[in-house]
Amino acid sequence: MINERLVEALNEQINAELYSSYLYLSMCAYFSAEGFSGMANWMKIQAQEEVSHANKFFDYVNERGGRVTLKPIEGVPTEWEDAQDVFRAVREHESKVTGLVNNLMDIAIAENDHATKSFLQWFVDEQVEEEASVQEICDNLKLINGNGHGLLMLDREMKSRVFVDSTQG
Ligand code: FEO
Repeated sequence: MINERLVEALNEQINAELYSSYLYLSMCAYFSAEGFSGMANWMKIQAQEEVSHANKFFDYVNERGGRVTLKPIEGVPTEWEDAQDVFRAVREHESKVTGLVNNLMDIAIAENDHATKSFLQWFVDEQVEEEASVQEICDNLKLINGNGHGLLMLDREMKSRVFVDSTQG
């Protein structure tokens, strides 16, 4: 049986992952409205990934005999200045999520819960990948510097992203 302090922290993380999904869906709506269908696609898939993360936590809490309690999801921003502004916000958000995962790991270590430490390692590794891929897009956008042709090329590239549920297997 998993301890209550950890159950509470894992429940908070379920909420944070669902908030992330809601945030990226809002960014998807923004890009759709602005005519960037590739970036909208990227965000839609990002939103799906976050739901899969929430589900991974959800299933783990249940598996360990804890009680999942779903709380209201906070409202998300709906407007940004441009693509660079959006991806800057994504980078900041993912860096916050990394902090939350690290904090969860600290609690699991303090509670000497080896199973949860092992479970959380997947998220520690996932955050490294997430931060790197967002940083790459931010770097590209910086190089493009608002140039229409560059934005069009990047948008086209981002259209090819497909959803792969990396939480399975
Ligand atoms: Fe679930 Fe983007 O971290």
